[in-house]
Amino acid sequence: MTILVTGGAGYIGSHTCVELLQNGYDVIIADNFDNSSPDVPERIARITGKTPKVYAIDVSDGPALERVFTENAIDAVIHFAGLKAVGESCRIPLRYYRNNLDTTLTLLETMERHGCARIVFSSSATVYGPKNGCPYTEDMDTSATNPYGWTKVMIEQILRDYCAANSGFSAVLLRYFNPIGAHASGLLGDDPNGIPNNLMPYVARVAAGQLPKLTVFGNDYPTRDGTCLRDYLHVVDLAKGHLSALEYAAAHTGAEAFNLGTGDGVSVLELVHAFRKVNGVEVPYVIGDRRDGDLAEVYANPTRANDALHWRAEKSVDDMCRDAWHFIQTRVAEG
Ligand code: NAD
Ligand code: UD1
Repeated sequence: MTILVTGGAGYIGSHTCVELLQNGYDVIIADNFDNSSPDVPERIARITGKTPKVYAIDVSDGPALERVFTENAIDAVIHFAGLKAVGESCRIPLRYYRNNLDTTLTLLETMERHGCARIVFSSSATVYGPKNGCPYTEDMDTSATNPYGWTKVMIEQILRDYCAANSGFSAVLLRYFNPIGAHASGLLGDDPNGIPNNLMPYVARVAAGQLPKLTVFGNDYPTRDGTCLRDYLHVVDLAKGHLSALEYAAAHTGAEAFNLGTGDGVSVLELVHAFRKVNGVEVPYVIGDRRDGDLAEVYANPTRANDALHWRAEKSVDDMCRDAWHFIQTRVAEG
């Protein structure tokens, strides 16, 4: 079975390509490397012994995408390609709406022309918006507080509308919570350009001495230690969820959302302390102001994914910390 993985060179996409290749799927990556490195496919090949086919294209480029579908018999698509930085999306919203919506529309139109009727989409816990209480369940209303989040809400709606109009089509909307960690090989991980926005890559760079200290964004939240709770899951567990989603898409039509999380909330300080303890390193930190838009707690009820997808996050916070540290050390050693 041949899977087109848009954004397959990115953080979650690359780990998913590894799982796909190791489970007998043929993989085609379409990525413009806007937020990833062109050497990622080669790293995937080093881990799996199999080389994915790569198209260095913008997924919103209709003729280029048409070529991908003409040259290959694609059974299903996993759609990761998109921009994901919340703060940046507030500064340049049109770029986010243009990129995230155009890629999806071009993809769906091309899939339709080629009779490809299965898609797995990277949605986000951010679609639960600021009003729902935790744990989140998939039937809650969706909304957003920033352009990035709105693109996810809108794309979910586009996929629902498309499924309603096309009875044979299947769309699995995977709402990721907070993926962290890295591949155990140290060859793949979260490696953002510039100063990281997200907690784990920031912690890892502080531990490696590349940044002086972590600022913990607020310790006056109504949580057990005053810092925010998030549902962190290992990126390899998340990647495996996409294989379960492909199987689900093959057996069902219509659009369905699933939370991919552990169901547990872990605080910022708990994560920092776990990282220090597991890896035997220092992570200097100071307590700073709250970050605009942060919610006190975000965690899933993952029951639907556990039951219908037969998927469960298995790796521990210690595993996530160990693998994230191994990845950054490998990066440092590579120069
Ligand atoms: P990432 O930035 O590492 O990967 C996205 C990939 O898409 C990159 O390789 C980038 O070059 C590519 N891309 C972007 N626009 C493209 C375009 N127009 N054409 C071709 N390629 C394009 O991000 P990630 O963390 O791997 O996230 C993957 C998806 O999951 C994104 O849609 C993101 O919004 C979503 N998501 C991520 C998280 C998270 O915490 N990382 C949480 C929820 C949802
Ligand atoms: C953020 C986005 C979310 C997106 C996700 C993945 C916001 C408000 N939310 O989630 O929409 O889907 O990234 O890209 O940006 N923290 C610190 N210090 C830091 C960095 C983070 O204390 O330097 C804290 C944050 O306050 C938060 C936790 O760590 O409580 C996790 O932050 P982060 O990794 O950025 O993820 P989210 O904010 O949950």
